[in-house]
Amino acid sequence: MDLATTAVSSPSAYSPSKDTVRNAHISGRAAYDRLVAEAEADHEGYWARLAREFITWKTPFTQVLDDSNAPFFKWFADGTLNASYNCLDRNIERGLGQKTALIFEADDGAVTQVTYAELLERTCRTANALRSLGVQKGDRVVIYMSMSVDGVVAMQACARIGAIHSVVFGGFSSQALRDRIADTGAVAVLTADQQVRGGKHLPLKAVVDDALALGGCDSVRHVLVTKRTGAEVPFNAPRDLWMADLLAVQPTTCEPEWVSAEHPLFLLYTSGSTGKPKGVQHSTGGYLLHAALTCKWTFDLKPEDVFWCTADIGWVTGHTYIAYGPLALGATEVVFEGVPTYPDAGRFWKMIQDHLVTVFYTAPTAIRSLIKAAESTPTAHPRNYDLSSLRILGSVGEPINPAAWEWYHQHIGGGRCPIVDTFWQTETGGHMITPLPGAHDLVPGSCSLPFPGIAADVVDEAGNPVPWGQGGILVVKKPWPAMIRNVWGDPERYKSSYYPQDFQGRYYLAGDGAIRDAVTGNFTITGRIDDVLNVSGHRMGTMEIESALVSCTTLVAEAAVVGRPDDTTGEAICAFVVLKGALPAGKEAAAVAGELRSWIAREIGPIAKPKDIRFAENLPKTRSGKIMRRLLRSVAKGETSTQDTSTLENPAILEQLGQAY
Ligand code: WT7
Repeated sequence: MDLATTAVSSPSAYSPSKDTVRNAHISGRAAYDRLVAEAEADHEGYWARLAREFITWKTPFTQVLDDSNAPFFKWFADGTLNASYNCLDRNIERGLGQKTALIFEADDGAVTQVTYAELLERTCRTANALRSLGVQKGDRVVIYMSMSVDGVVAMQACARIGAIHSVVFGGFSSQALRDRIADTGAVAVLTADQQVRGGKHLPLKAVVDDALALGGCDSVRHVLVTKRTGAEVPFNAPRDLWMADLLAVQPTTCEPEWVSAEHPLFLLYTSGSTGKPKGVQHSTGGYLLHAALTCKWTFDLKPEDVFWCTADIGWVTGHTYIAYGPLALGATEVVFEGVPTYPDAGRFWKMIQDHLVTVFYTAPTAIRSLIKAAESTPTAHPRNYDLSSLRILGSVGEPINPAAWEWYHQHIGGGRCPIVDTFWQTETGGHMITPLPGAHDLVPGSCSLPFPGIAADVVDEAGNPVPWGQGGILVVKKPWPAMIRNVWGDPERYKSSYYPQDFQGRYYLAGDGAIRDAVTGNFTITGRIDDVLNVSGHRMGTMEIESALVSCTTLVAEAAVVGRPDDTTGEAICAFVVLKGALPAGKEAAAVAGELRSWIAREIGPIAKPKDIRFAENLPKTRSGKIMRRLLRSVAKGETSTQDTSTLENPAILEQLGQAY
């Protein structure tokens, strides 16, 4: 493990304004401290109180935490509820039927507003359509759709009937989609004819066809297709059905399926350090509680807010902070189909202006690329837009470097909006370490302090606490309601990945390193301590990319993948490849590198394409035959290494590896 061991100095802090503090749900540091103390004094009592406040239960729970089969924790297990009821019907019962739930902006700028009453009706019809095809509680449904009202409706509809959804990001390839469909054993796939991004029409249904043709997906009985562009797509009756035909005959109401709090709400695949992506299984009750609670406290959401989370529903951020959290609070939110740079790099700023967005949540990668764009194209600069509606900004997915933080604060937030740098993971369900806007001083580069009730800490490799100011391993010492429940179909992997024996199975292991400020105790995340990369906020396993490369058996003999720092994407993928044929150079090497990139795009998706590909006759290995990854990381960074290379069989390869294509 590479752990940062140097103390982080405390750069200047920004205190929230008096108004921010006064009006915030969690008003002032003392209010935060009281919540932390309440949770410390009675962890279960604290979470039970909030679960009663934030969730409407069909049957109230009497049990809070069940740790009898740790680390397979259960929360509120004898309570029953329905997530879609909590996100839709409940708001209508509270008089919000005519309130706008979703402001959908299409790639071409067309805007559709959907009220809570309309969203409920669409959800009910879709839920009825699924039921009419025999989809039942506990069945898995794969959703392969882009950002759309229909995508959100599809998720809510599954929740309504107790089907377990698994959304697959629309940028994943047919191979990656097949693997996920096969692993879930889905009975249905929901998709659209095409998706539209940045003015381009891209396939969805055709990718589903390819995925199913790859085999191993016999569980799939139906593919339900929504029309987005109206493009002609191959249709394979009776398996394929047009969603519109099904919906036309469905009743507009649908009795929710009341499920146990522990009933899986969804599976979402994410990369680990070894093997295939794992299906992270989330619960209904604990998950929904944290989705609603963190939306309220971290974003300080109020009824009049317009919230915009720019994530895709294919990632966990799009689950918690688009499909569930804001709706559970009866909020109004923006859903955006397109990309930040189309028709130009002012798109985000224009949308904030047009929709009077008050709370904006995006990724550092987007900010960094928009900074570059604003500097090179004056018309894309945020100064051309009225961003005065904004009051809170959020960041997620990767560390935000202080320079990007300052720009975001000054140019987007006008120097007045607190930035919440939210640290969390697919597995954690929602925010774990984050400032609360009216409670914390903000320090660029630090995600500040644990959300009340989250027992995050930094320990050494034996699990002993390390003093503030010293780097270590980030752990969570107590279970929390929204935590991952299992790795779908692989409980052993759940245990070994998240409750490893290194800590006698006592602590949840996040997989990140962290350091606490010596004075304030503020957390700074120092990056993954395993072989997981974070490229543009997307998580990718190095092994996954390696196995995709070596599966190109006509070309590749051996491959190793490491990350290297990148100004825009945070980390960039760097692949070291030994070819079966002779070592190529110049144009020929560039051509082979191009072929390998296309191969990866087909095997996993374009997001996994290596930025650098380097060829050599061999990879540097230790005497015992282990690839010297640390050495490769230095080579990838362009560092002249001080590491011992005396064990290298063929030192000349270091020179070969210096050239990136
Ligand atoms: C990994 C989780 C969180 C939802 C989207 C990504 C990194 C995430 C931060 C942050 C520093 C961060 C960690 C984490 N990460 N947020 N605010 N500061 N690092 O979810 O794909 O499960 O990735 O993203 O390395 O482990 P994910």
